[in-house]
Amino acid sequence: MNFLEKKICEEGIVLSSTVLKVDSFLNHQIDPRFMKEIGSEFADRFKSSNIDKILTIESSGIAPAVFAGLDMDVPVLFARKRKSLTLNEGLITASVYSYTKQEQNEISVSTKWLNPGERILIIDDFLAHGEAALGLAQLVQKAEAHVCGFGIVIEKSFQAGRQKLENQGYRVESIARIREMSPKGISFWKEESEVKSS
Ligand code: G4P
Repeated sequence: MNFLEKKICEEGIVLSSTVLKVDSFLNHQIDPRFMKEIGSEFADRFKSSNIDKILTIESSGIAPAVFAGLDMDVPVLFARKRKSLTLNEGLITASVYSYTKQEQNEISVSTKWLNPGERILIIDDFLAHGEAALGLAQLVQKAEAHVCGFGIVIEKSFQAGRQKLENQGYRVESIARIREMSPKGISFWKEESEVKSS
C-alpha cells in the first residue's frame, strides 16, 4: 500500500459505494507536509515530460498542484468556476457538467497565462466521471498549448473518468486508484495486483 492509500484507509470516510470523504487532508483541512509528498510524487512521475506549467481547477486541486509546482519549479494556474471581478477580458472558457451537483458550469482561464506551445500538466484532487478533467484539457487545446498528462490524487476507477481520458490518448497518473469501496473497506488497483484493506 502506498503512502496515500494508507492515509485514505486511516482517515477517509466512505459515505457510500461512490463517495469518499477526505476532508482531514485534501478537501477541507489541508495537511501541508502530506501534500508536499503528493507534489513530489507528481514531480517524479512527470520528470521526463518537460512541463512548463501546471493547470488545475479551484478549489481542492490547488493544494496538490501548488506543491507539485514547487517541486517542479513551474507556475501553477487554476481555472475559475465563477466569474471574477478583475478577470473578464481575454478569457478561454469550457463547459463542465458536474454529476455530483447535476449542474453545468462554465470554467475559465485568462489567455494571458495559458500560451500557445506551452507544455501543460493537469492536476486535480479527484477523477470521477472525468468531466472537469476534459474541460481543463479543452481550455489547453483552445489556447493551442499541449496537454502532457493528468496527475490525479484519488481516482475512482469504477467510474468512467480514466477511460474517457485514455480514449483521447492522454496519459493518466493517479497516486491512489480505488477499485471498490463500501463502509466495510476500500480496495485499490495496483499495476500488477490488487490491494485490499478493511
Ligand atoms: P468529474 O468532474 O470527474 O466528472 O466528477 P463529478 O462531477 O462527479 O465531481 C464534481 C466534484 O465532486 C469535484 O469537486 C470532484 O473533485 C468532487 N468529487 C467527485 N467524487 C468525489 C468523492 O468521492 N469524494 C470527494 N470528496 N469529492 C468527490 P468540486 O465540487 O469541484 O469541489 P472542490 O474542488 O471545490 O472541492
